[in-house]
Order: sequence, then C-alpha cells, then structure tokens
Amino acid sequence: MDATADTVFRPAIPPRRAGKPLALLPFLWISWRDPIRMWSERHFDEPQLHGNSAFGEILVVSHPAGVRHVLTENAANYVKGDLQRRVLGPMLAEGLLLTEGETWRRARRILAPLFTPARMATLNARMAEVCAARVAGWSLSARGRVLDVDSEMSGLTFDILSATMFSDELGGEAKGFERALNQFLANGARIDPLDVLGAPDWAPRLGRLASVRSARFFEQRVTRLVEARRARIETGAPAPDDLLSALLLARDETGGPGSQGAGLSDEEVAANILTFILAGHETTARALGWTLHLLSRQPEHLARLQAEADAFDVSDPKWAEGLPWTRAVLEETMRLFPPAPTMARKALAEDEIGGQRIGAGATVIISPWILQRHRLLWDDPDAFRPERFLPENRKAIDRYAYIPFSAGPRVCIGAAFAMQEAMIALAAILRVAQVEPVVRDEPRPVHQITLRSREPMRLRLRARRTATPVS
Ligand code: HEM
Repeated sequence: MDATADTVFRPAIPPRRAGKPLALLPFLWISWRDPIRMWSERHFDEPQLHGNSAFGEILVVSHPAGVRHVLTENAANYVKGDLQRRVLGPMLAEGLLLTEGETWRRARRILAPLFTPARMATLNARMAEVCAARVAGWSLSARGRVLDVDSEMSGLTFDILSATMFSDELGGEAKGFERALNQFLANGARIDPLDVLGAPDWAPRLGRLASVRSARFFEQRVTRLVEARRARIETGAPAPDDLLSALLLARDETGGPGSQGAGLSDEEVAANILTFILAGHETTARALGWTLHLLSRQPEHLARLQAEADAFDVSDPKWAEGLPWTRAVLEETMRLFPPAPTMARKALAEDEIGGQRIGAGATVIISPWILQRHRLLWDDPDAFRPERFLPENRKAIDRYAYIPFSAGPRVCIGAAFAMQEAMIALAAILRVAQVEPVVRDEPRPVHQITLRSREPMRLRLRARRTATPVS
C-alpha cells in the first residue's frame, strides 16, 4: 500500500492462477466460492481463449473487436446464458435483465423513456437531499467514527432508489431489504455445482432453498407496493410523480410489433422494480464502496475530490462539469473493480469471433474484470490512475475496452442514473468527511454476482475542519 501521488498505487486483488486448466472439482469449488479466481494469468495476456469446461464449449473474449461483435454487431445471435437465468431467475424472471426476444424489446421500448437525460435531471435535487440526510445521520466529529461502508452505501443507494422510484413508499424497510439481499447474494445467487453439471431444474439446490425466504420477502413487499399504486391511479387520486407511476402509466407508443399502446402487466412492473432494486442498488453501492476505499489510500486524490465537492452546487444545471476528477475516480474504480465483473452469452447459431469458430450453444464470456485489466489494452493495468478518464484522455479509450455498464442493445439502462447518483453521493460525503483506512490490510474483492468485499469494508470518517487545498 502507498499513499503518495508519485508512487503508483496498485490495489490488492486475489492471486491469479498460473495457466493450468482446472480439474472438475476445483472448478466447481471456485465457481461456487468466487468465480473471478477462475481466470489465469493467460486470460490477462491473450485476446481470447477457447476451450471446453464443465459448462461445455467456452470462449473468453477480451479484445474490443470481439466484444463489439458479440454485444453489438451480432447481438441477435446471443442470449443470456442459462446459468444467469437459473441464478437470478427466481427473483427477476420477467424483468428487463433476463427476458429475451420480443418480450425484452417491448419492455425496453416502454422503459427507455424513464431513463432519458431529461428525466434524470429531474432527480438530481432529490438524490442530493437523500445523500445529505444520510451523511448528517453519521454525526461525524473530528475524532471520527468507523463506518461499515458496505452497509452504509447499500443503505444510501437503497434510499435513493426508494425516494426517486417509489417516493419512499417502501420507507423504513431499507434494513430488511439489505438483510434479504445479503442473504440472497450469499446463498442463492451462486453458481451451484448442480447447475454446472446440468442437473434438471427440479433437483434442489441447497443455496437456492436457503434464499427462498429472501425472494418471498422481496416479492411480497413489491407486489403490495405495485397494487396500492395501481389502485390509487385507477381511482383518479393524484399519484406521486416518480418512476413507479411512470412505469405503471408507460405505454408502448412506438408502433413496434404488437405495441398498440399497451403497457406492462402488474407482474412485469413488479419484476422490473425488483430488477431495478437488485441491478441498481447493489451495483452502485459497490462502486461507491470501492471508490471510498481507494480514496482512503490516496490522500492526494481524496483532496482533489474534496475541493470539487466544496464547489458542488446541485441546482446548477451544469453541476456535473464541475466534478471531472470525481467522475474520473469513479470510472477508474469501476475499471479496476467492475461491480458486474462477468457477462455470459450463449450463441444461438455458430459464429466466428477473432478467427475462432464456435458452435451453436457455445458460451461466450465477456468479463469487464479481465478486459479492463488486460495487458494488451491498458498501460500498467493494475494501477489506479484516474487521469486516464479525464475528459482530455478519455477519448483514447476504446468504447469496447471499457464496459462496466456493458454495451450494445442490452447496455445498462440505468447507467446515467448510476453515474449521477454516485457522483452526487461522493460530493455529499467528501464535502464533510475525511476518509481514512482502519486497518493496514486492504479489502479484497470476491465475486458474488457483484464484486463485493470479502471482509466487511470498514473506514474511518472524520469531520473535515476546512476545505483541503489542492495543488
Ligand atoms: C454502478 C452501477 C451499475 C453497474 C456497474 C451496472 C452494470 C450493468 C451491466 C454490466 C449490465 C448488463 C448485464 C448483461 O448484459 O449481462 C446491466 C444491465 C442492466 N442494468 Fe445496470 N448497472 C448499474 C446500475 C444500474 C441502475 C442504477 C439500474 C436501474 C435503476 C440498472 C438497471 C439495469 C437493467 C434493468 C439492466 C438490464 C438491461 C437490459 O437487458 O435491457 N443498473 N447493468
């Protein structure tokens, strides 16, 4: 660990394996425990690697032309893998993240207007209020207090979703949601050996049985919320102007196949709310947590961001332009610690990628974890160097070498929402807080759907005495 600006900081990561293929048992064990440990040194050196695994034929693609081919140019030939559906399906089956074909296209058409820049701009002030309230709740003093950053950031991003999407109608349930989500991620949202071995769906998966309670908790709360809001809209009573009302009122007016101005069913609305909570709250919380950790070890960058935070004014329509280092630090953090570290696709028909023929049914892995640390694509890939993402340098980065939000038609619909809330949250925190590590050892990432910290991430936050000068 080093904290000076002129020494390069390379955050701790789990050891990488040497190139030998894994035997079946270690493969199953690593898939279940921490899939990012599956990747060997060769994955970070070679543009793509082809082979056979317990999943069948598999191609790991880590070069921009191949990523562009799979995610954009020939996206119609790829669907999300069965594994993703098995892992997340019990919670999100009818939601945007997991549906395919015309069902997905129609939902995407209906949901896209909810996430336009104009719509996002209406959420700034509410996001800033929620962040200020959470930070005030910490009652920071000069002595400081140690925060469980994972839990606080999850609480914060949940509060933001709850305020902007449901006008706080889920209010007060953040802790219950967090508990249920942790239970789901720790038990159910794992690659079960039975899935890898192709066991039928009815064969009971231990982890998934343990997560049934959390799935039921989510479903009940969200269904209640949707039904209550639908009833309110139908009686003609004024409904809050939030994303839930927009979701219930949204119609497919684009004239796409089967559109005829139809909206989403209550089941689809509920599944999409769950999707937004699961895809939106956990990922952004992890991005914020890793960012605070990296800043705690880099006082020079911390001071830069504090200076930007001091001048931050959410009522200025151009507020984001005043936070170039904040954005760059976030983007560099998501390069090194992508909240969604791996994407899997299944080829519907045979294809050729980077000169390699693959058969129908082959699995293609595109991993931001590998791609964004790849030695052929990045200078000093494991080093934390946010200046890569300053406006003057950013255009040198290939669109398909940096994909924390994916790319192509299935790009994250909430990317602008996430960047906006994360920048506002950082500004709110750093305006008042000094951030310091508590222990010498750095937290290390573990892949449990999102990239989480293996040990609880704890940091000391102290009240800042003055704005920190920046060179
Ligand atoms: C830092 C925060 C976030 C990251 C890193 C992230 C990352 C991603 C990635 C990589 C995908 C593509 C997954 C795949 O194709 O397999 C995705 C899809 C998606 N994300 Fe996000 N996401 C974030 C925040 C959000 C937020 C805030 C929302 C909603 C409010 C959201 C909603 C979704 C949805 C609905 C999809 C599915 C889109 C589709 O398939 O059409 N995400 N996200």
